[in-house]
Amino acid sequence: MAALARSVLVTGSNRGIGLELVRQLAASPRPPQHIFATCRDPEGPRGKVSAGIGSGMVLSQVDTVNLPSIQGAVWAVKSHLKDQGLNLLINNAGISSHATLRSLDSQEMLDVFATNVVGPLLVVKEFLPLLEQAAKSAGKEGLSCRRAAVINISTKLGSIGLCLGLPEAPMYPYRASKAAQNMVTRCLAAELQDKGILCVAIHPGWVKTDMGTEKAPLTVEHSVRGILTVLASLSQATSGAFLDWEGNSLPW
Ligand SMILES: NC(=O)c1ccc[n+]([C@@H]2O[C@H](COP(=O)([O-])OP(=O)(O)OC[C@H]3O[C@@H](n4cnc5c(N)ncnc54)[C@H](OP(=O)(O)O)[C@@H]3O)[C@@H](O)[C@H]2O)c1
Repeated sequence: MAALARSVLVTGSNRGIGLELVRQLAASPRPPQHIFATCRDPEGPRGKVSAGIGSGMVLSQVDTVNLPSIQGAVWAVKSHLKDQGLNLLINNAGISSHATLRSLDSQEMLDVFATNVVGPLLVVKEFLPLLEQAAKSAGKEGLSCRRAAVINISTKLGSIGLCLGLPEAPMYPYRASKAAQNMVTRCLAAELQDKGILCVAIHPGWVKTDMGTEKAPLTVEHSVRGILTVLASLSQATSGAFLDWEGNSLPW
């Protein structure tokens, strides 16, 4: 089987789902030639974990709410890839918030929106020339992660369609931010389709990570194995979709 993509960049890859994504990508039988594992603090103890994973791994500093840091990573990735462009961008970094109607304040809402909505959108904006370059060099090939793609790691907690009854936990900042991120995914899918770039939102399941906690039913290995299988199957027909880690379609 061909590699999922020649080059992949993952945000928030020092722990949780992001770390497992770069670990499984590097360990796959046909690994991507370039894996850009990015995190806020590559020199920190958790950043060093992803540094030791594989030979094709490049560790870069990216704080997704800091524009100069994103632009620095674009420059670093570009100098690695020369004129090949970036095939696959996985917007994984995110934060949660359990604020209730009683406890929330505007700053918390803004912080969660900055990380879960504005950050991923700016990452796409800044990496767009490299994604376009990859899409162009694939000629008239159909949409796929191998050609050029943006994957936004979402959550079914951001689905308005699944939230018609009383939600289990309102989590206003988190759920509203992920619903907004879903709209961003739909708009990107519509705008970038003609440029040859696929965009999809993926719900990873409820996963045992710092965010998901030990109570979650899914291991991070299981979730990421599913996500990578789904990514390999994406095509024109699924661009603009909201899918879970098993490939099931979710309502927006
Ligand atoms: N776990 C679940 O059950 C679950 C369910 C649905 C969706 N998700 C989504 O899956 C994604 C990953 O979640 P996770 O469970 O792996 O969470 P996690 O274990 O809490 O890890 C979050 C990652 O995001 C990074 N991050 C946060 N803010 C950042 C910023 N401004 N710039 C760069 N990196 C930043 C963190 O880096 P630091 O170490 O520097 O903080 C960390 O690497 C998130 O988008 C989350 O919403 C998770």
